[in-house]
Amino acid sequence: MTPYESIISKRDLRVYTDQPIPDDVMHRILQAGRMAGSAKNLEVNRLVVVTEQAVQDALVEAGDFSSWIGSSAAIIGFASPTAELRAFDVGRQAQNMMIAAHAEGVGSCPVTLQHADKTRAAIGLPDDWDMGMVITLGYPVEDHPDSPLKRTRVALDDLIIHNRWQG
Ligand SMILES: Cc1cc2nc3c(=O)[nH]c(=O)nc-3n(C[C@H](O)[C@H](O)[C@H](O)COP(=O)(O)O)c2cc1C
Repeated sequence: MTPYESIISKRDLRVYTDQPIPDDVMHRILQAGRMAGSAKNLEVNRLVVVTEQAVQDALVEAGDFSSWIGSSAAIIGFASPTAELRAFDVGRQAQNMMIAAHAEGVGSCPVTLQHADKTRAAIGLPDDWDMGMVITLGYPVEDHPDSPLKRTRVALDDLIIHNRWQG
């Protein structure tokens, strides 16, 4: 799979087998996240890799659309100091990792954790840190069910504005 093919063919997958992700594959996925650039190269956020079932089950309760995440091979959270939240940095790391995972045959999905108090309790996150987003990882089941939100993307012509906003 070329990098372009990996980017273009990646869809978010939520149903996984119970096969664990080998250490070398996980290492490459995490390296892909590590190498994303950050604003002013500050690298303030940290990746919380959750493989313990009890911790995953606690994170299920921290989101409104996360009932399924407890069956992931791993959940990776993006923890940032609350005063230095940089969503663009987190997005770059997350997408790097999901594309790298997809190229390795590993499925993934971003998930929002709306309930900061439950997230903090689940992973012992300090009060002055936040972890509002995670990605899940796992090997996809055969005949993976369609996403409940499945549809095609907005057409390029509708997506792109050239030079100045056209109302
Ligand atoms: C910022 C963000 C938050 C998301 N939060 C959730 C979530 O809480 N639960 C979930 O199941 N999917 C979540 N998703 C996944 C989206 O539903 C998914 O990206 C979208 O439906 C496109 O999926 P596709 O690539 O399979 O077409 C989130 C995606 C993004 C980018």
